[in-house]
This record gives sequence, C-alpha cells and structure tokens, in this order.
Amino acid sequence: MYTEKVMDHFNNPRNIGIIEEPSVIIQVGDPDCGDTLLLSLKIKKEKIVDVKYKIYGCGAAVATSSIASEMAMGKTLNNALKITDDSIAKALGGLPEEKRHCSNLAASALRGAINEYRKSNLKKA
Ligand code: FES
Repeated sequence: MYTEKVMDHFNNPRNIGIIEEPSVIIQVGDPDCGDTLLLSLKIKKEKIVDVKYKIYGCGAAVATSSIASEMAMGKTLNNALKITDDSIAKALGGLPEEKRHCSNLAASALRGAINEYRKSNLKKA
C-alpha cells in the first residue's frame, strides 16, 4: 500500500522537534481527521536555514511532514512556496488515493508559515 520511501520516512522521520528561537511557528490542523502539525522555521536572508516540526497524525502525515521538511531545508522562501501537496506526494513515490489529502497538512503549514513570516516582517518594517 505504501512505497518504501513512505515507510522509510514514517519509521525514521527527519527533523522532528521545535526550533528554540524560530523566525516563525505555526500550527495547522485537518478538520476532517483532527491531525495536527506544528511547524517552526528559521529564516535568514529569505532562506530557510532550519525546519522542525511536531506531528500528531496518521502514518502518511508523518511521512509527508518529514519529506516536506527535507524539501524546504535550504530553499529560498519563493522556492519553498512552490512545494505543493502534489510535489510532496511525488517525492515519496506516490500515496494511496485515500491518503492523498494527508500531504495537504505539510504543504499548507509551509505556505502558512512563510505568509505569516512575511506579514510579521512587513509590520516590523
Ligand atoms: S488521516 Fe489525517 S492527515 Fe492523514
């Protein structure tokens, strides 16, 4: 049912935790299943230099959060905004149809965190 890559990220999720002094931290939830992702980013000069998260969710949510953290690491904010639920699922070699929605959690947390960071930086300027 799951690809080897999904199982690898599920069994050994990367970048778990919370950044101590994050540039931005955001929590998103899926109202349908109740799964929740807490995502923190460290951003320097428009670039994501650290990504950490805590996930309360299904196996696919764990695997998609893990690979999304690897995909976002080191990217500029503009490039990180190009990470979508589709590109996350593709990077895992695909997800079963009924689990496709799980990749939304990481994609929307990433988008939300970057937007939040930009908004709060605008206010400071
Ligand atoms: S079932 Fe909720 S994110 Fe997978």
